[in-house]
Amino acid sequence: MSKPRSLHDRNNSFGWLSIGLHWFATVAIILMWFIGQSIALQSIEQIDARRSLHVTLGLIVWLPLVARIVWRFKAGHPRVNGQTLMTHQLAKAAHYVMLLLLLVMLISGPLMAWVMPERSALSEIAFSFHSFAAKALAVLVVLHILAALKHLMFHEDETVARIFVPRTEDALDDE
Ligand code: HEM
Ligand code: HEM
Repeated sequence: MSKPRSLHDRNNSFGWLSIGLHWFATVAIILMWFIGQSIALQSIEQIDARRSLHVTLGLIVWLPLVARIVWRFKAGHPRVNGQTLMTHQLAKAAHYVMLLLLLVMLISGPLMAWVMPERSALSEIAFSFHSFAAKALAVLVVLHILAALKHLMFHEDETVARIFVPRTEDALDDE
């Protein structure tokens, strides 16, 4: 009989908390990215409304996204069974860079929206950080998805499966 699935991460497995945060963040980031990207494309009458939509959604997802970053750095990064140390370090580094870029967005966004006067030199700097981090994160997310697809198609490992369901306690006991 299988035992309950884990909430927390284990040595080689993500728990429900990490899995929930990963997919919540994925939906939030993709939505924020497309809405953010569409702001500058609006007509003069529509631009404020679109910017407000981006800022309001940003306010709603801000805390869970910060929690997601803190949680990953605090909980560490489980290694996939059978993965070489080098691949593990590479994946870990890429994941941490994505989280740092996300942090830059979560700091620069509110600075622009609420702290700095519009069109001041400081708000221009915050915008440059926000805009650069958005582009860099988009490139890394595309590479990240390609890496996941590569694992799905060419490797017989648990890289993709483990971000959907934690391993059962039984499977862990079998180690
Ligand atoms: C998930 C995190 C976020 C992503 C992926 C994101 C994405 C973007 C993108 C792609 C742009 C357009 C940049 C450009 O034109 O080069 C943008 C602009 C902007 N974002 Fe964010 N953003 C995020 C979080 C936030 C937050 C939390 C706030 C504030 C609460 C915020 C406020 C703004 C503002 C004020 C602009 C400038 C709009 C303008 O006047 O053109 N963003 N964002
Ligand atoms: C459809 C989109 C996505 C797919 C298919 C996907 C796939 C995956 C997979 C398979 C893993 C597990 C890797 C391993 O076992 O070591 C993972 C982990 C991770 N992914 Fe994604 N991912 C997506 C979107 C994103 C986005 C938008 C971000 C942006 C921050 C992201 C950041 C991370 C991070 C930081 C990890 C490490 C575990 C964690 O902290 O959640 N992913 N992803």
